[in-house]
Amino acid sequence: MASYADFKGKPRLPKFASPKRYDVRLKPDLISCKFNGFVSIDVDVVSNTKFLVLNAADLNVDPSSVSFTPKSTSQEFQASGVGLIEEDELLVVEFGDELPLGIGLLNLSFQGTLNDQMKGFYRSVYDCNGEKKNMAVTQFEPADARRCFPCWDEPAAKATFKITLDVPSDLVALSNMPVAEEKLEGGLKTVYFQESPIMSTYLVAVVVGLFDFVESHTSDGIKVRCYCQVGKSDQGKFALEVAVKTLELYRKYFDVPYALPKLDMIAIPDFAAGAMENYGLVTYRENALLYDEKNSAAANKQRVAIVVAHELAHQWFGNLVTMEWWTHLWLNEGFATWVSYLAADVLFPEWKIWTQFLDQITDGLRLDGLSESHPIEVEINHASEIDEIFDAISYRKGASVIRMLESYLGADTFQRALACYIKKYACSNAKTEDLWAVLEDISSEPVKELMNSWTQQKGYPVVSVRVKDQKLELNQSHFLLSDAPGDSQWIVPISACCGSYENRHTYLLKEKSGSLDVKDYQGTAWVKLNVNQTGFYRVKYDEELQAKLRHAIESSQLSATDRFGVLDDAFALCMSGQQSLTTLLTLVASFREETEYTVLSNLINISYKVMRIVADAMPELVDSLQKFFIGLFEYPSGKLGWEPKSGESHLDSMLRGELLTVLAELGHKSTLNEATRRFDAFCADRNSPLLPPDTRKATYTAVMQTVNASNRSRYEALLKVYRETDLSQEKGRIIGSLASCPDPDIVLEVLNFLLSSEVRSQDAIFGLSVSKEGRETAWKWLQDKWDYISKTWGSGYLITRFISAIVSPFSSIEKAKEVDEFFASRMKPTIARTLKQSLERVQINARWVQAIKKDNSLPQLVQELSHRN
Ligand code: BES
Ligand code: ZN
Repeated sequence: MASYADFKGKPRLPKFASPKRYDVRLKPDLISCKFNGFVSIDVDVVSNTKFLVLNAADLNVDPSSVSFTPKSTSQEFQASGVGLIEEDELLVVEFGDELPLGIGLLNLSFQGTLNDQMKGFYRSVYDCNGEKKNMAVTQFEPADARRCFPCWDEPAAKATFKITLDVPSDLVALSNMPVAEEKLEGGLKTVYFQESPIMSTYLVAVVVGLFDFVESHTSDGIKVRCYCQVGKSDQGKFALEVAVKTLELYRKYFDVPYALPKLDMIAIPDFAAGAMENYGLVTYRENALLYDEKNSAAANKQRVAIVVAHELAHQWFGNLVTMEWWTHLWLNEGFATWVSYLAADVLFPEWKIWTQFLDQITDGLRLDGLSESHPIEVEINHASEIDEIFDAISYRKGASVIRMLESYLGADTFQRALACYIKKYACSNAKTEDLWAVLEDISSEPVKELMNSWTQQKGYPVVSVRVKDQKLELNQSHFLLSDAPGDSQWIVPISACCGSYENRHTYLLKEKSGSLDVKDYQGTAWVKLNVNQTGFYRVKYDEELQAKLRHAIESSQLSATDRFGVLDDAFALCMSGQQSLTTLLTLVASFREETEYTVLSNLINISYKVMRIVADAMPELVDSLQKFFIGLFEYPSGKLGWEPKSGESHLDSMLRGELLTVLAELGHKSTLNEATRRFDAFCADRNSPLLPPDTRKATYTAVMQTVNASNRSRYEALLKVYRETDLSQEKGRIIGSLASCPDPDIVLEVLNFLLSSEVRSQDAIFGLSVSKEGRETAWKWLQDKWDYISKTWGSGYLITRFISAIVSPFSSIEKAKEVDEFFASRMKPTIARTLKQSLERVQINARWVQAIKKDNSLPQLVQELSHRN
């Protein structure tokens, strides 16, 4: 005999009944921020039970309203008990008798609060003609539909949804489907939406507020709208155009039409993630949807296109075919990430977006180099663990291994297989192995065996290579940034070129070691493995091959992607203690004439990290090293100047800002002077042409290098710009630059500003990149404010950013201990994984510092390099 206790502590809902159709009616009150709800669910009872167990959280369910009416008898069963198991977010409904098998109608009435947590049914605040107003918005992924109405809140419990909203008649009310009917009564309107196709609860959405929109159609008649703040609909045009083209592209690519009659996209001022793929009603942060011709930067434009393409990919991959359980989240996110690049490449070939995909791979490799990483397919035992896996493993490693597989199978085969998979699992759920089965079937390659080694174990290999007798001798081991290598193995698709791209050798490395014949190898030629960086692994060359690669880089024989790859692998090997900093800097020096965006962008990131670690390990080398990096970046920056040249490329526009930013942070005098001059002109006149959008982040960063507690007028001026702008991208640039100030007193002010009501809580996390001088201050601040921070951000993934941003930069074992002790009594499931990862990074840094101290040839090399400029 079942009792309440039997349902506790289980990761999944019991299977004795499942929902088929929801009729949900919601009446939000935007003044009191409460809502009333009523839901009527067609439930299929499949085994004998007196209980129905579903999810609910933060809702008051009225026990007397709960009843079940079997379709066969129409005799109503009144609930004999209604109980909430809070820790598992369960609603247990008990009946006096066993329910008859088959379909019946479960009715429930309930009340809830429009919360300020950006999840469930929440309120967002916006400004309308100087007046503050509330809008009501939903965000249900991963598991918060249960905060809006009681439901079977699991991705596999698909059902149809018929939504009805009672709202003030002057407001726009949106949901997944088009409006079927509207009834006006007094100042209130009731909006009845059409019933949706079968879908998961996490994709249900509702938005109520004041909006303008722009509208367009796809060639097959789907109505597409982009909703924006009142008066800003011009800023929605770019995203709208991208959406229309992307929908048409995906229809062809997946060979299945978009399933709904309309697609709305909408900008929400308070929004925790970047965007959310709700079926037919995609919600976005303002900065990921709106594009302002005059004030947005090239990087903003690209971000909008990528985010739109990502969310629309989910309309097929995720919404039509849904993961069976959160263990397979990567199928959703890894896939949408990969496809978004595919779409961006078709729409904007001049962006060379596949070379920018390297950033995804790098971030995936970076997280997966930790022993505290996790496999792509990860066990989930409680809803509270889901938030943390929306990470670089699910997204970036996920997308990278998909790209690796596509390049192994060939683009055509891959596309054909995907189209089959989508058709086979449409309106249903799938697991990772289901995708492999279809791919294996269509390609006749051992996809399952190959891919299991990448998705079921954490980490990735580093492949060591040397040449002997016209053979490449290969050896794989688990690459870890911290520990000695483990003994995992992978099936690695190896590719190699020797001296030219004309002849590519391929080989599947299945064992620990292997060898590859390279008959065309001439003793003097360079050898590049992982050609075009399509594989998710690192390569370690012996010294002889390293020297040849440096020469190949200097004489422009390697492609940009391969230059990037050689550099990134060398950096990781250095951080992990497998190669010296001397070796890395020698390589870096061969990028003296680099002009390619992606390569320079990675070089910039590496320079920040190297500067930081050297400051901890050998502060006496900092000045010379600074000179060296300045010399490296002055050349391309000088070519680009401060102002856009007419007709210049998108990549040059993005590069300009990144170069100026790094030069500012390195303290480059003429950049700082020029920046302050232009900033002053901009403060005097916001329409000044001296500060084009692509240079603003750099300028603000430069300004923050020059201010301090007794010279703060430009800091105040920057805050004024922040307060006066209504463009979220502009606010973001400012927030992102403030804490780079070297004065710890200012850093502390900035950190407190982030917690003030002037910064939306979603944006605060972008202000946490603190200067090295402010690092200790930030850690003290985090401890002081932890209770408040944990309360305010503690229920979603944003909280993890506070920890990773402030803890990871440390580089001593003592610090790691201190942090560990502080959090020992403050642990909770939402931060556990991130904390362990951040502590591991501190240990990696600490070991790196020790290695640098022992690197005897470093001082002389740094001297030499700084003089060469
Ligand atoms: N499904 C996610 C949104 C999400 C993230 C929901 C975390 C719940 C928790 C959405 O498709 C997404 O991945 N958005 C990205 C943007 C994308 C371009 C990488 C995001 O929010 O950053
Ligand atoms: Zn996504």
